Amino acid sequence: MSGLYIHIPFCLQKCLYCDFYSLATRKSKKAYLEALSKEWEERKNDLDWGVKSSIKTIYIGGGTPSSLDRDEVKYLFDSILKDRTLFHPNLEEMEITFEANPENLTYDYLNFLKTQTPINRLSIGVQSFCDNDLRAIGRKHSALQAADSVQLAQKVGFKNISIDLIFALKDMTKERWEANLRKAIELKVQHISAYCLTVEKGTMLNTLVERGKITLPNEIEQEEQFLIAKDYLTKNQYEHYETSSYAIEGYRSQHNSLYWQNKPYLGLGASAHSFNLKKRRWNINNLQEYIEGVNQNKIYYQEETLSPKDIYNEYILSATRVKEGISISHIKETFSQETFNHFLLQIPELLKNNLIQRQNDHYLLTTKGILLSNQIAVSLFL
Ligand SMILES: C[S@@+](CC[C@H](N)C(=O)[O-])C[C@H]1O[C@@H](n2cnc3c(N)ncnc32)[C@H](O)[C@@H]1O
Ligand code: SF4
Repeated sequence: MSGLYIHIPFCLQKCLYCDFYSLATRKSKKAYLEALSKEWEERKNDLDWGVKSSIKTIYIGGGTPSSLDRDEVKYLFDSILKDRTLFHPNLEEMEITFEANPENLTYDYLNFLKTQTPINRLSIGVQSFCDNDLRAIGRKHSALQAADSVQLAQKVGFKNISIDLIFALKDMTKERWEANLRKAIELKVQHISAYCLTVEKGTMLNTLVERGKITLPNEIEQEEQFLIAKDYLTKNQYEHYETSSYAIEGYRSQHNSLYWQNKPYLGLGASAHSFNLKKRRWNINNLQEYIEGVNQNKIYYQEETLSPKDIYNEYILSATRVKEGISISHIKETFSQETFNHFLLQIPELLKNNLIQRQNDHYLLTTKGILLSNQIAVSLFL
């Protein structure tokens, strides 16, 4: 089983916190979509990079995929699905996700997505159901529009909707964060991604924080808000299955789960990453250079072959994020005796500090451990 990721870098504006490769432009959209189609044609049968097992998930992410108009969305699917042999035979059984911003989600656009494309899962970038928060982070949509977009999506028939929320925003109180979660539950969305605001280098937010223009909640407040989400959502039938991900039973993100389970995926477009179990490849994060590279047969990516050490470290990183935790037998059977010994040597300290607990073949992170998952991963790394 493998997945296909397609990156759409166009946005209405560049949000101050955002580190994803995205541009506030509409320029070169057509040329970009043509380049995507060409990249797909070139790579799908490449012995090294083609997805050898049938593709079970497609994730169109960004940037803002919903900035594409209907003809552009149609063109994208027509080019990708032209050769159906690489895909699961039944499109309806695949998970096909489209990331969307609330301001683009009119009834007509949603109805088009539902009836004229194979998209069966929406990931809506709500961020907050509070106008003060949305203004503070410079979003184009209002709280009302955010809730309306979810309801309209339900009305046209989408039965698998995820929303993104961000906590630890400037001036965000516990009460406000709880109100956001309450609203999400009230809307009966199947999946919630609850991210802690990260100050990424090179973003406008980072400049503002460094200049003292913005003060954000401290680490204790961040942890408090993380725990509020965990507690409140799990009490309301959402399974906390990955650091930032909560799902009603049967609605985990299958595509993102491929990443966390170190399964293969092919990424198309500027900045997209690919993984074929042995190598990682990442495309250049520059729109024009990507288009030129694809069209003129120049190299538009970098790649690295993973060493056994990289593969072990990546496994640890993913396993410390997911509910299932770290499989002892997987490490024993996949890696060298030396690696397994190194792993076993770190365990007593982690158990003593109540960061992990054993459950059959797995070490699971405790709640304290989840808050310190990066530290745990670093301590287990080779
Ligand atoms: C690819 S991004 C953008 C999706 C869509 N364009 C939007 O803005 O709604 C996916 C999600 O990552 C989250 N995100 C982006 N930057 C973040 C940051 N610095 N800290 C926390 N979450 C972030 C947001 O919740 C966002 O919806
Ligand atoms: S958060 Fe979304 S809309 Fe804002 S710049 Fe990033 S990708 Fe674009």
